[in-house]
Amino acid sequence: VDFHVSLVGRKDLAGEIYRQLRQAMLDGRLQPCERLPPTRELAERLNVARSTVAVAYDRLMGEGFVTSRVGAGTFVGEHVSRATVPPMPAASALRPRPIWDDVPIRFVRSLATWQAEFDFRPGVPDASLFPFEAWRRLVALGWRASAPGLATYGDPAGHDGLRDAIAHHIGLSRGVQASAEDVTVTSGTQQALDVVARVFVAPGERVAVEDPGYPPPRRLFASLGARVAPVPVDAEGLVVEALPPDTRLVYVSPSHQFPLGMSMSLSRRLALLAWARRHDAAIVEDDYDSEFRFGARPIEPLRALDESGRVIYVGSFSKTMLPVLRLGFVVTPPSLTEAVRAAKYLTDWHTASPTQAALARFIDQGGFARHIRRMRTVYQARHRLIVDTLTHDFARHLEVVPSHVGLHVCALAPGLDGDQLAAVVDRASAAGVNVAPLSRFAVDDQRAGLPIGYGAIATDRIADGLARLRRCFDG
Ligand SMILES: Cc1ncc(COP(=O)(O)O)c(C=O)c1O
Repeated sequence: VDFHVSLVGRKDLAGEIYRQLRQAMLDGRLQPCERLPPTRELAERLNVARSTVAVAYDRLMGEGFVTSRVGAGTFVGEHVSRATVPPMPAASALRPRPIWDDVPIRFVRSLATWQAEFDFRPGVPDASLFPFEAWRRLVALGWRASAPGLATYGDPAGHDGLRDAIAHHIGLSRGVQASAEDVTVTSGTQQALDVVARVFVAPGERVAVEDPGYPPPRRLFASLGARVAPVPVDAEGLVVEALPPDTRLVYVSPSHQFPLGMSMSLSRRLALLAWARRHDAAIVEDDYDSEFRFGARPIEPLRALDESGRVIYVGSFSKTMLPVLRLGFVVTPPSLTEAVRAAKYLTDWHTASPTQAALARFIDQGGFARHIRRMRTVYQARHRLIVDTLTHDFARHLEVVPSHVGLHVCALAPGLDGDQLAAVVDRASAAGVNVAPLSRFAVDDQRAGLPIGYGAIATDRIADGLARLRRCFDG
C-alpha cells in the first residue's frame, strides 16, 4: 500500500514517521501482518534519508509493533489490535440542510441488494438476458493503450459517435427530430434532470411534478431549492388545469406515466403544450421505457408536437441496456444546449468515455436494436400474462390500468384504502413476493394500487408469484 505519511517541516522526521505508523496500526488502517513499505521506498517517497525511516522502524520494532523477517520485509505485529483504538471524537455539530432528511437513502441503499423469491419491483430490466459477450468485446476495444483520448478529459457534451447514434435512434424509434448537436450525454435520466434544473430553475421557483410520480426527480428539484408542486394525474395523464400558474418547469412521463402506466391523451398533450406557451414554462418529457411498446400505436412525443421549443426530451439506457451503466441523454432546444453542457462540465465534466464509445459501437453495429427487439418479445409475453392473470384472478380486488408500453403495469385497488393495501404488501413480502404499493410514489394522491414490474422476474415464475400474491389479499 502507498501508506500516507504527512511530514511538515524538517524537525524530528523519524519521530513523526514513527508516530503516524503507530497510529495507523492502532486505528486499524494498517492491519496485523500487513507489510510496511521497504525503508528505501518510503524514504524516496517522503524525500528523507533512508536512515531516518530505519530509525522509525527500529523504534516500532523495539516496542513490539512490527516484526521483521530477513528477505521478506517489515510487518505489522500479529497482535497489534484495534482494542487500543482511542474512541471516535464526539459527534460532530455539523448538520445537513433539512431537505436531506426527506431523502430515504437507507431504503435506496437496501434496494441494491434486495432479493425476493418473486420480484415484481417496477422499473428494472432483465439483466439475465443482456448480451454480455457482445458487450464485453465492445468494452474491451476501448480499453487498449492505443484507444484515443484515454488520458485526457472528454467533451462534456458526450462522445460524438454516441450523440450521433442517439439522434438517429430517437428519430427512428420516437419520431423526435434532433441532431447530435442537440444531444448531451448524461449519467442517466437523473443527471439530465439535474443539469436542466440547474440551468433553468432558480431557487424559489416552481417546478410541477406528477402525483403519483417518480420520486427521485421530485426530491432532486427540492434539493436544488425549487418549490415543488405535486399535480394530480387522471386517466388521461397530468391534469393541466391543476398546474400552478407560476410554474417554471413541468416534469412529465407522457408515454408511460410512472407509476400509473397510461399514456397521456393527445388532447392533454396539446393542452400541456399550449399551457406552457401561455405561461412561458418549460416541459421536461421523461421517455424512460417506451422502446418496449406492444402492438399499440406509439404516441407522439411532446417533443415532436412542440412548435415553440419548450420541450426538453430526456431518455435513458437504464431499461434498454442496464441501470448500472448510468447512461442517459437530454435533447435540449438550442437556446439551452450550451448552458446544459456547462452544467454537465461543472457537475462531473463528462460521463465515462470508454462506456460511451462502447455503446456507440453497440448501436451502430445493430446490437442495440436487436437487443430491444428481443426484449420487447419477452416483456410483451410477461405483460400479457400479468394483465390476463390480474383480469381473471384478481377481478374482485384489482382493476388494471390499460397500458401497452414498458416494464410495468399498474393495477388500482378501488375497494381498499391505503392501510389495507399496505397490509397486503406486508403479507406478500413475508411470503417472498416483492411488490411496491402505489403510495410509495404519491405525495397527496390517495389511490390504492400496485405497480407490477416484470423486468426482475422470469416469465415462468410469474404465475406462481401472482398466485402467492393473490392469497395475500385474503388475509
Ligand atoms: C420515470 C422514470 N424515469 C427514469 C428512470 C430511469 O432513470 P435513470 O436513467 O436515472 O436510471 C426511471 C427508472 O426507474 C423511471 O422510473
